Amino acid sequence: MAKDAVRVLVTGAAGQIGYALVPMVARGVMLGPDQPVILHMLDIEPAAEALNGVKMELIDAAFPLLKDVIATTDVVEACAGVNIAVMVGGFPRKEGMERKDVMSKNVSIYKAQASALEKHAAENCKVLVVANPANTNALILKEFAPSIPEKNITCLTRLDHNRALGQISERLDIQVSDVKNVIIWGNHSSTQYPDVSHATVTSSSGEKSVRELVADDKWLKTEFITTVQQRGAAIIKARKLSSALSAASAACDHIRDWVLGTPKGTWVSMGVYSDGSYGIPPGLIYSFPVTCEKGEWSIVKGLKIDEFSRAKMDATANELMEEKSLAYSCLN
Ligand SMILES: NC(=O)c1ccc[n+]([C@@H]2O[C@H](COP(=O)([O-])OP(=O)(O)OC[C@H]3O[C@@H](n4cnc5c(N)ncnc54)[C@H](O)[C@@H]3O)[C@@H](O)[C@H]2O)c1
Repeated sequence: MAKDAVRVLVTGAAGQIGYALVPMVARGVMLGPDQPVILHMLDIEPAAEALNGVKMELIDAAFPLLKDVIATTDVVEACAGVNIAVMVGGFPRKEGMERKDVMSKNVSIYKAQASALEKHAAENCKVLVVANPANTNALILKEFAPSIPEKNITCLTRLDHNRALGQISERLDIQVSDVKNVIIWGNHSSTQYPDVSHATVTSSSGEKSVRELVADDKWLKTEFITTVQQRGAAIIKARKLSSALSAASAACDHIRDWVLGTPKGTWVSMGVYSDGSYGIPPGLIYSFPVTCEKGEWSIVKGLKIDEFSRAKMDATANELMEEKSLAYSCLN
């Protein structure tokens, strides 16, 4: 029997990531090739015409899994009955703008959209925040949607995770699908800590540690980390636009693994509400290694943390605490 359609909200759908993301959702990349979907696309009034253009293209693409498309600038209509919400819309930092001004704009957007989701989304709606500052936007959303379980509110660090996999595969000249269990700790910002201490490579002779295979701790502790941290800036420099297809693909990976589960023995990175694991203060949305099963994520516990990792994990937690107080100061 055909499955019921899942309603997927994409905010900021007329933007770059939105344009790359909605066809992926409609093709079954996010929820599987047998899962019909109804797309809800939200953007703001100045982008209404462009949003309608995206809707026209979705119709023209005749995706068999796409059962309906709602394109709207009305947040209530956009959120009505959605099962999955991918929050890509936000206020970008413009030249000359203070950090506080950008934070303040995003805090008010995420406060309003939290209320709309809380009132109008389907029960158990899963939320993924992509728009920057992603961790703090997700935290604001959580605070202003208290009836949505905190386990349902996450932010995207999967792009950073995938970038780390990509760098290791390039360095070792192996397939990216043979590398697993890198970790992104912390903030989706340049303080994030890409960690390969527990990462492995699968080969015909079994699993080997990335660290042993790379055999260059200096590179792993310096260039590898900064390359992943600054990959977003490198893409902007090359493309004169920020990463979009890789961000959209990572958003699909994040939701797919959350809903359908991670493969046995593999973890992924997700920004989730800290439960105090690894000494990270509760009350932050922090990227951890997680496994997913039956629609629920769990933080991978008991990994050994050395002194180098500890310092990096704390530094990115400190930045998140600062962002949190800045966000709260914008609420007054
Ligand atoms: N977490 C990550 O890994 C990651 C990666 C890349 C980009 N990003 C972030 O994702 C966001 C989107 O990037 P983009 O390149 O698509 O930007 P973009 O400027 O092309 O698109 C953003 C869209 O959001 C819309 N928008 C603005 N305010 C809105 C609101 N209140 N409600 C609904 N829509 C609204 C805009 O009109 C625009 O169409 C940015 O914040 C970017 O920094 C995050």
